[in-house]
Amino acid sequence: MNKSSLPQHVAIIMDGNGRWAKKRFLPRVAGHKAGVESARRIVRNCAKHKIKVLSLFAFSSENWRRPAQEVSYLMELFLTGLEREVGMLHENNVRLRFIGDRSKFNEKLCSKITEVEHLTAANTGMTLIIAADYGGQWDICQAVRELARSVEAGTLSSQDITPELIRRNLSFADLPDPDLFIRTSGELRISNFMLWQLAYSELYFTETLWPDFDEAELEKALSHYAERERRFGYSSDQLNELAG
Ligand code: IPE
Ligand code: IPE
Ligand code: MG
Repeated sequence: MNKSSLPQHVAIIMDGNGRWAKKRFLPRVAGHKAGVESARRIVRNCAKHKIKVLSLFAFSSENWRRPAQEVSYLMELFLTGLEREVGMLHENNVRLRFIGDRSKFNEKLCSKITEVEHLTAANTGMTLIIAADYGGQWDICQAVRELARSVEAGTLSSQDITPELIRRNLSFADLPDPDLFIRTSGELRISNFMLWQLAYSELYFTETLWPDFDEAELEKALSHYAERERRFGYSSDQLNELAG
């Protein structure tokens, strides 16, 4: 595949674990367990394909609405996943970062997150972002609050608030915006993922349920992406001239 047509940042809504389990007459949690295996596989595959940033939506601000038992199983999966995967992250030269509001996580999980972030901080291959208790609206809200504080303190004038300044206060500020957005399981919505950063991402939806999303599925998404013409508001003629 032509390297320039490779996305730098791939963002995925890993959806369909529950339906995957239901199809097999298994409890939903079995779907989440299979989902973790799929996530681990996709991390390795993306690292192999030289993707720079991979963002995985693991738990949304709204997923707290799920039954308490399912929520606590998911929290347990984060913890055991973190405990287990440090070796795999190192082997693949992956730096891990969590993004989201950590205030509702228990102390054990919070310190594990910090520990693994620290342990993998020097890895230079791919950056893996796990979005957990994350919502695009939460993200914009915390950025606005930060700017409002500066206005209150008199260090920022409201006139100086620009899209660029807002962006710099969002969670993924030091990373490129997603080039390719993937959602599995056939749902055609963003579900409060990176609302700001997805402004010009190429969207790709597949019926495949998350636990079944393998390397072949990733390659299919990447080749769809390679066919897209990204215009960012320019006309096709202008882009042809620039390429020209
Ligand atoms: C995605 O799978 C995982 C999380 C939201 C945590 P779902 O649990 O949403 O699976 P479906 O959509 O019910 O099939
Ligand atoms: C989105 O999936 C969040 C994650 C995959 C973590 P949901 O399954 O929660 O989304 P909705 O509720 O169907 O929109
Ligand atoms: Mg779902």
